[in-house]
Amino acid sequence: MAAHPAEPHNAAGPACLLLHFADEAAPAQRLAHAAGLTAKEIDRHRFPDGELKLRLPVDAAGRLPPRAVLLRSLHDPNEKLVELLLAARAVRSLGVQHLTLVAPYLAYMRQDMAFHPGEVVSQQVVGGFLAGLFDAVVTVDPHLHRIDTLSQAIAVPQALALSGAEPLADWIAQRRPGALLVGPDGESAQWIAQAAARHGFDHAVCTKVRHGDRDVAIELPPLNAQGRAVVLLDDMASTGRTLALAARLLLQAGAASVDVAVTHALFAGDALQVLRDAGVGEVWSTDCIPHPSNTVPMAGPLAQALRQCSVSS
Ligand code: R5P
Repeated sequence: MAAHPAEPHNAAGPACLLLHFADEAAPAQRLAHAAGLTAKEIDRHRFPDGELKLRLPVDAAGRLPPRAVLLRSLHDPNEKLVELLLAARAVRSLGVQHLTLVAPYLAYMRQDMAFHPGEVVSQQVVGGFLAGLFDAVVTVDPHLHRIDTLSQAIAVPQALALSGAEPLADWIAQRRPGALLVGPDGESAQWIAQAAARHGFDHAVCTKVRHGDRDVAIELPPLNAQGRAVVLLDDMASTGRTLALAARLLLQAGAASVDVAVTHALFAGDALQVLRDAGVGEVWSTDCIPHPSNTVPMAGPLAQALRQCSVSS
């Protein structure tokens, strides 16, 4: 992954700790370096029956500093929500007065309304849960489709939503100058607009109808893809079916190549193979979710957001 130049600087105030779990040690070190924080690991033990026990990195007096940041990217979210509950409640009794969640990927944001009677609106439930645990939340491209701001989903004093669109656009401009940028569905229009505005890419957005988890129908917009290097840009790829179908249609329309850039590399199951089978060339992503496709680091922008939290709190 390309290194991100960052001046060591304590972005969240003096003696602020960056707490993390073992599986996110690498991104925690990158963020700690960019933000000038000290990263410390939360020890996690899983009992034979599946319950979790956490041990927090307290000082010799058994205390934590008044300010702490907890890094947890919420892909594979269900168990992590329990970790957040345990850790965030416990740090308060150990001295933490201000706790920021940095969740580069924020789960449960897509179910933002009851599409059928009785469906749980997960965005509201999980948003309310996180608001009860944290004073500030920082995330990246949280898939806010029917609401305008992150604070409408997570009502904390500071709720900051960054975007991967511009850093991804910078990467695309280096690797595919003159690319035709295509969004696979209406929801991607916001990221396509940001990326295109930054580098003047030609751009267009498809229309999509979802029939099931792995079943989508896509229509290309009026565009001339003949001979063009196309880059599909979206906030996330989960099963990969959306991007795969869009890629097939673009190649049928004469595109010379189709590459993919996403903020969140969920890539569930056979998603990457599905993209390859559809003729996709390169797959690029931010490091919001650790994945072999990561090419665009977000530690710099996340550190900048932590400075904002520090300034106004
Ligand atoms: C939804 O609108 C998102 O922006 C993505 O397009 C969607 O989650 C992709 O899902 P999948 O990869 O499963 O088709």
